Amino acid sequence: MAPPRTFPTMSAAESAAFVGGVALPTWAKGIIIRRKAATALAERLDVDARAVRQMQRLRATYGEGPLLVRNPIRPQAILLRSEDVRRVLDGAPESFTPASSEKRAALSHFEPHNALITRGPERAPRRAFHDAALESNCPVHHLAGHWTGIVEAETDAILARAGSLGEIGWTTVFEGWFRIVRRVVLGSGAADDRELTDMIARLRGRANWAFAVPINRRLRAAFHERLASHLARAEPGSLAAVVARMPGAAAAEPTQQMAQWFFAFDPAGMATVRALALLLAHPQALARARGEAESDAPRSDLPFLRAALVEALRLYPTTPMVLRQTTRETEWTEGTLPAGTGILIFAPFFHRDDERLPNAHRFAPEAWLNRDPAHAPPFLPFSAGPAACPARHLVPMLASMVLARLLASGRRLVLCDPERLDPARPLPGTLDPFTLRFALPAGA
Ligand code: HEM
Repeated sequence: MAPPRTFPTMSAAESAAFVGGVALPTWAKGIIIRRKAATALAERLDVDARAVRQMQRLRATYGEGPLLVRNPIRPQAILLRSEDVRRVLDGAPESFTPASSEKRAALSHFEPHNALITRGPERAPRRAFHDAALESNCPVHHLAGHWTGIVEAETDAILARAGSLGEIGWTTVFEGWFRIVRRVVLGSGAADDRELTDMIARLRGRANWAFAVPINRRLRAAFHERLASHLARAEPGSLAAVVARMPGAAAAEPTQQMAQWFFAFDPAGMATVRALALLLAHPQALARARGEAESDAPRSDLPFLRAALVEALRLYPTTPMVLRQTTRETEWTEGTLPAGTGILIFAPFFHRDDERLPNAHRFAPEAWLNRDPAHAPPFLPFSAGPAACPARHLVPMLASMVLARLLASGRRLVLCDPERLDPARPLPGTLDPFTLRFALPAGA
């Protein structure tokens, strides 16, 4: 059904420019798994900063209300006002489902029954599975004490591997980070199972193409079988053990839910690397972070380092496009949107809107101290509302443990190419985590 004519709609030229300047660059970087070459190019071209400026121009032309993009396939709106973002995110899943058509097509490549792409009554128990296992409302997971030793041992191994090279880069951090992830989720018996991580990476590579490539059903089945065999060990101290004890977990199809964890821990690693780079580029913040890292505080309670992680996500959101779809007609001041309208929330626009935010391009972790990242409009680092990320506390907790160990190791870390994050200038809109490098000067 065509939307009413009164609803503000971009011209054909503006719609094409929007697709070329906002949607396409984000898609090219890789929605489900980042493409390294495209991400490097995106930083060189500063594509996210350009996209934000384009959105600001659209707001100046059409005002603050939702704006329709001309789209031959289905009505597609973009949001320009923080209050509308709140309304849409709070209205999940009844009026605004997170299970949008394109997200279903993409995630079905590896987790067709995941909560995020489930419509109807089956969503609630699947979402409850995540809330219970990840303890979504608790700043400190009850297994935090058990995981501290794992994080410290694996972070020390990262430093040891880096020692011979004289620097740490993405590959080394990624290896160590995913050993932590496998041990936390499945137990130490999965520490060496790189193949598991590789399998889901291959499936995510296909998911980047959503509808455009067929699902590799054999690989998907093999991945789920492998995950199930780890899960069956229910190793004490792991999330697998939590799942094993959880009443009714089987009905939620655990591996379908946990596939999302293995997907999402990858951007969490990227955010950790970016947070480290940002800290090393900002001497005052670094001094505070080091103080915290070297203190006697429990490793699960490092508020400034947690805040640095969330601030890295504000500056460089790892879910730049939060997608929703209307399930019924919805009324707006500007008119009515029909059921089935796609809704796009472009996070960088709300996070870096320098026409509204005084410090949009500065690194200011203190703003996140003791603040729930899912209740911080206009920011949505972990989304908000009933479909907000259930790992919004777990991710900052684990990342802050890693950062603390790196900063308190006794080895001095130095950001290579510091001009990429010069604190005297506005921070760039895009920061490629794969090319960040940290030197360990000899004897320092
Ligand atoms: C940097 C790290 C992460 C960020 C920034 C992040 C952010 C988000 C965002 C923005 C959403 C909403 C997506 C949407 O509506 O389409 C989401 C959903 C979700 N996230 Fe995360 N996430 C991260 C890591 C994780 C991790 C490590 C896990 C699991 C261990 C996880 C589990 C989930 C789940 C299960 C959902 C779906 C929630 C639902 O359907 O109600 N996330 N996350």
